[in-house]
Amino acid sequence: MIHARGLSRSFGAVEAVRGIDLDVSQGEIVGFLGPNGAGKTTTLRMLTTLLRPTSGTATVAGRDLFADPMEVRRRIGYVPQGNTVGPFSMVGEELRLQARLYGLRRAEAAERVDRLLTELDLPGMDQRPTASLSGGQKRRVDIAMGLLHRPALLFLDEPTTGLDPQSRANLWDHVRRLRDKDGVTVFLTTHYLEEADALCDRILIIDHGRIVASGTPAELKAAHGAGTLDDVFLAVTGRELREGAAA
Ligand SMILES: Nc1ncnc2c1ncn2[C@@H]1O[C@H](COP(=O)(O)OP(=O)(O)OP(=O)(O)O)[C@@H](O)[C@H]1O
Ligand SMILES: [Mg+2]
Repeated sequence: MIHARGLSRSFGAVEAVRGIDLDVSQGEIVGFLGPNGAGKTTTLRMLTTLLRPTSGTATVAGRDLFADPMEVRRRIGYVPQGNTVGPFSMVGEELRLQARLYGLRRAEAAERVDRLLTELDLPGMDQRPTASLSGGQKRRVDIAMGLLHRPALLFLDEPTTGLDPQSRANLWDHVRRLRDKDGVTVFLTTHYLEEADALCDRILIIDHGRIVASGTPAELKAAHGAGTLDDVFLAVTGRELREGAAA
């Protein structure tokens, strides 16, 4: 689903991502972890065609990132870091509009939105102003946005940040179900390492723009003699605060 080699991106003097290789198979849930400023969002923005790599090669969802970016976009969903839904419209209206932009016909769009609202535990939310939703509901609407066109590969950038434990558990259940029921491949970032441990088939840890560890949660813990992924994380990335941590 994702094959990247030597993917890099600089912003002036800042080398945000320094030549990373990635391989993600169909149906995997892969957790992309790393300290603030490590290069996670930059990597996601490159893989989703929103940011041009400085160098490297990649195929995403079976298409070449450079030669065929439009076909990549058709096959992927992307839920960016932070809330994406604007505050001024109704939930259903916003979703149907987005579905129409993806090329669904009016009836298809209505049906798809109804189904996603049900599947994502948002019953009766169709006519609710997006500004009135709780944090957990907003994030589920964001995810519905990313699923309208039935992508085979879904990128989630910190889907659970700021949510309470119940909402986080609920969201992870949805992610698991997407994979189990629809075969969606999921590539996600999170700072909640216990959740990553429980949910992800495989973990990649990035630090200073380089992959510093990869494996299943069990493999990583065994390799570092660690009891938790937090311990693995601190072992491979150190304890020094990052520039982003103060922001
Ligand atoms: N548009 C930009 N212009 C300049 N620098 C940027 C830009 N986008 C990202 N950077 C820098 O690239 C580095 C990586 O940022 P990135 O957003 O990818 O980190 P991250 O791993 O997603 O962090 P966080 O966990 O805080 O979301 C940081 O030093 C950041 O300041
Ligand atoms: Mg980020």
